[in-house]
Amino acid sequence: MKKALLAIMLLLIITACSLISPATPTSDPTDTPIPVTLTDMPTPRPTRMPPTPVSSPSPASKIYEVAQKIGRAVNLGNALEAPNEGEWGVTLKEDYFVQIKDAGFDSVRIPIRFSAHAERTHPYTLESEFLARIDWAIDNALKNDLNAIIDLHHYEEIMIEPEKHRERFLGLWQQLAERYQDTPNSLYFEPLNEPNGNLEDVIWNDLLADVIAIIRETNPIRPIIVGPDNWNNLSRLEFLHLPDDDNLIVTFHYYLPFQFTHQGAEWVNDSQPWLGTTWDGSQADRFVMNTDFSQVADWAAQNNHPIFLGEFGAYNKADMDSRTRWTDAVARLAEEYGFSWAYWEFCSGFGVYDPEIATWREPLLQALLGEK
Ligand code: BGC
Repeated sequence: MKKALLAIMLLLIITACSLISPATPTSDPTDTPIPVTLTDMPTPRPTRMPPTPVSSPSPASKIYEVAQKIGRAVNLGNALEAPNEGEWGVTLKEDYFVQIKDAGFDSVRIPIRFSAHAERTHPYTLESEFLARIDWAIDNALKNDLNAIIDLHHYEEIMIEPEKHRERFLGLWQQLAERYQDTPNSLYFEPLNEPNGNLEDVIWNDLLADVIAIIRETNPIRPIIVGPDNWNNLSRLEFLHLPDDDNLIVTFHYYLPFQFTHQGAEWVNDSQPWLGTTWDGSQADRFVMNTDFSQVADWAAQNNHPIFLGEFGAYNKADMDSRTRWTDAVARLAEEYGFSWAYWEFCSGFGVYDPEIATWREPLLQALLGEK
């Protein structure tokens, strides 16, 4: 009897459930997946939004705002990171900062070869005249309401013999950190451009921890920009291990496809046969770019760091239409992901500005900043 009652109750429950939520058919012929090729695919949109700052920002989330403030920047390349300023054809002028601000940029990244302007032995004193020139560049940026990033660039020797140059590198930053400790936080420090060669993995992570500690002695909240080894390569982000610090911004550089962006580049071996490579911006091209950027965004979200795309650009041996398309695609995608960015570079081989006639290269400028 009990069993019969139980069976009836069970039957009633099952019937009630099927009335409330009708079961979905398990096999529907229209469900069969249609094979998709890359060219069929709609342009993929980023799946992840950058973390939004919480309403009462903790020190950790404040850095997202500080990273956003960099906004749209341009690298003042080939000037102060040449062995001596002017040797690579660019000498900075006051007017450049005015032009950059007027065009609508928010910041400048200033690559600097400090290592060529300091003593070789302890205490590695930086040349005072060179430092005065750096002060001038920073002052010009700040007085034009541009944020300034000073980046220690082209310390080639440390890439070959990291241990031998460790103390000197740290000594350089100790001096710079002391010198600029009272400069407003619209000055950002980037301890080293594109670590590469033997400066990798554990050695790079160790050196980074040390340089950050030295900077923090005098600059407790200065925003510091750091990136992975192998030329700030996005695929090396997973090997970047950072100390616990609330004021770090993570950077990567993007020059892919390399055979397009560096075609005919004199400093890249065997780049002559790449001449004529175009970038058409097909769905497949954009899919690859999006996949790269989403990898960065995923890493950033998992590791709680804002991202700054510190360099991207296509050399002037590529055709202007492709350069414009590619530049626009990179800048817009970076913005969609919430990355601030800096174009490589202002007025040399990748230049968005033609210094001969003191005029912007409009197609590139528009690709970066959009119509005025
Ligand atoms: C280097 C430049 C080079 C650029 C593109 C930069 O990081 O410092 O010398 O032109 O990358 O290759």
